[in-house]
Amino acid sequence: SLVRHYKFSVVVKNTTKLCATKSVITVNGKFPGPKLYAREDDTVIVRVTNHVKQNVTIHWHGVRQFRTGWADGPAYITQCPIQPGQNYIYNFTLAGQRGTLLWHAHITWLRATVHGVIVILPKRGIPYPFPKPDHEKIIILGEWWKADVDAVVNRATQSGLPPNVSDAHTINGFPGPVPGCSSQGTYTLHVESGKTYLLRIINAAVNDELFFIIAGHNLTIVEVDASYIKPFETNTIFISPGQTTNALLTANQDVGKYLIAVSPFMDAPIGIDNLTTFGTLRYKGTPAYPKTILTSIPPQNATPIANVFTDSLRSLNSKKYPAQVPLTVDHSLLFTLSVGVNPCATCVNGSKLVSDFNNNSFVLPTTALLQAHYYNIKGVYTDDFPANPPIPFNYTGNPPANNQTNNGTRVYRLAFNSTVQVVLQGTTMIAPENHPTHMHGYNFFVVGKGLGNFDPEKDPKKFNLIDPVERNTVGVPSAGWTAIRFKADNPGVWFLHCHLEVHTTWGLKMVFIVDNGKGPNESLLPPPADLPVC
Ligand code: C2O
Repeated sequence: SLVRHYKFSVVVKNTTKLCATKSVITVNGKFPGPKLYAREDDTVIVRVTNHVKQNVTIHWHGVRQFRTGWADGPAYITQCPIQPGQNYIYNFTLAGQRGTLLWHAHITWLRATVHGVIVILPKRGIPYPFPKPDHEKIIILGEWWKADVDAVVNRATQSGLPPNVSDAHTINGFPGPVPGCSSQGTYTLHVESGKTYLLRIINAAVNDELFFIIAGHNLTIVEVDASYIKPFETNTIFISPGQTTNALLTANQDVGKYLIAVSPFMDAPIGIDNLTTFGTLRYKGTPAYPKTILTSIPPQNATPIANVFTDSLRSLNSKKYPAQVPLTVDHSLLFTLSVGVNPCATCVNGSKLVSDFNNNSFVLPTTALLQAHYYNIKGVYTDDFPANPPIPFNYTGNPPANNQTNNGTRVYRLAFNSTVQVVLQGTTMIAPENHPTHMHGYNFFVVGKGLGNFDPEKDPKKFNLIDPVERNTVGVPSAGWTAIRFKADNPGVWFLHCHLEVHTTWGLKMVFIVDNGKGPNESLLPPPADLPVC
C-alpha cells in the first residue's frame, strides 16, 4: 500500500454559469473539485489550507475512518473548523474499501461548490468482480444557484421560509442549455462503438434526489456507495445526495448522439423544483448535425420508478465479498423523521420550519463533540437521545398539527461491538418527504423497507438478512420506513443526518458515541497535533 499526498487550497474563484459570473468558494479553483485517486488499503494525506474568509472543513463521505474520527470532518461534530488562514492535515487509511465515494465541505452549505470524487481502485492485481471496462468516466451531479449560497442558506435558516430551489442541476459542472441561456457548456460523454465504460456517478447535489438516464442505452449497476452489488440492468438510475453508483455502459447502439437527462425526484406535493438538465452521449464518428435521440423523463413524483431501482439493490455477497449482516440486535431503535413548525419571533410569519429525529432538533455545539468525548469535557452534550419517539402517534396517518420540537445536543451511546438496528420511520408531519439518511463512520445494511407505520411484530420477519445492500446513505420513504443494521465496531463520535442540506440545517441530525473496546486495536487514536481549536 502507498501513501498518497494531496493539497487542497480553499480559494475564491470567479465562475461563469447560466450566463452570469459570480465568485464561489472552491478547492484549487475547480468546480467540481479535484479528483482523489487511491487504492484499497492506501493511506491518504490531504493538507487543506483555508484561503477564504469563512470557516471550512472537509468530509470524506463514506470513508469509514476506522479509529480516525479526527479526520472525518463534520464541523463541531468531529472537529472545530479550519479558520481563515489556517490549515489542517486529514490523514486516514482506506482499510478494506474500494469503489466510488465523494468528499465535500461539511459546514453550512459550502458543499454546494466544494466537492469532488474519491476513486478507490482495488488492490493492485485484484480484478473487479465484473467484466473489466475499457474506460472509466466520472459523472458528478450538482446544483447551481445564481444567488450567493450564503443568501440561500440565510433565507432557509433566518426567515422561517423554505429555501430557494437551485437554478440548475449540473453534470460535471455543466448546467446544459437552460431557457434564456443556451450558449454555454453542455456535458458530452464521448464513446466508441463496441467499448464498455464504467460510469462512476456521484450525487453531490445539495437538496435533490435525482434520476439519471441515457437515451437508448441500458446500464448495468455493479456497485453503490463503494460496495459491490449483484449486477442488474436498468434504464433509469435513482440516486440521492451523498450516494454513488457505478454502472457499466456498453456503446452498442447506432453511431449517433443520445440525450443524457438528470431530473429531480420529490415525493412531497410542494415540490416545485422540476428543472431537468441535459447532456449528450456522442459516438465517435457521429456525422455533423446529428438528430439527438431522446428519452422520456420520469415525472418529478415517480415514486414507483425510484422504488424499482432501490428494490433491485442486493449485496454481491460472494465468497470473496461476503455480506456480514448482524443477525442479532443489542440496541433496537426507532427514529421518526419529521419536518415541523416552531414559533419564531424574528421570522416573517412568526414561525419557522424545523426538522428532527424523535422530536429532537439537534443543536450543534460550539466545541467539537469528539474533543468533548475524548477529553471528557462536561456540559457539551447530554447522553439522553431517545431510543424511541417520546410520544408514539400514527406516524403516517393524520399527524398532530404542530410539531413543537425539543432542541438539544443529545447523543445515543453504544458499547463497542454492540449490534444496532435503527428503524427510520418517515412521518407525514407537515409534508411527507423522502429523507436520504447518511451515517458517518459506518456502512450499514438495509434490511427492510415498507409503507406506513413499522410493525415491530410482523415486519422483522420479512427482513433480508442474507444479501441486503450495504451502503452509507439510504432513502427513507415518505409515509414509510427503512430499517438498517450495523455493528458498532468503530469507536468515536458519528453523525447521522438527512443529506438534504435544508433538513440538516433545520435539525434533522443526531450523533452516536461509540465507546472504546478493551482490545489493542479497539480504541480511538489520539488526536493529531494540528487539530483545529474552536
Ligand atoms: Cu456527505 Cu455528513 O455528509
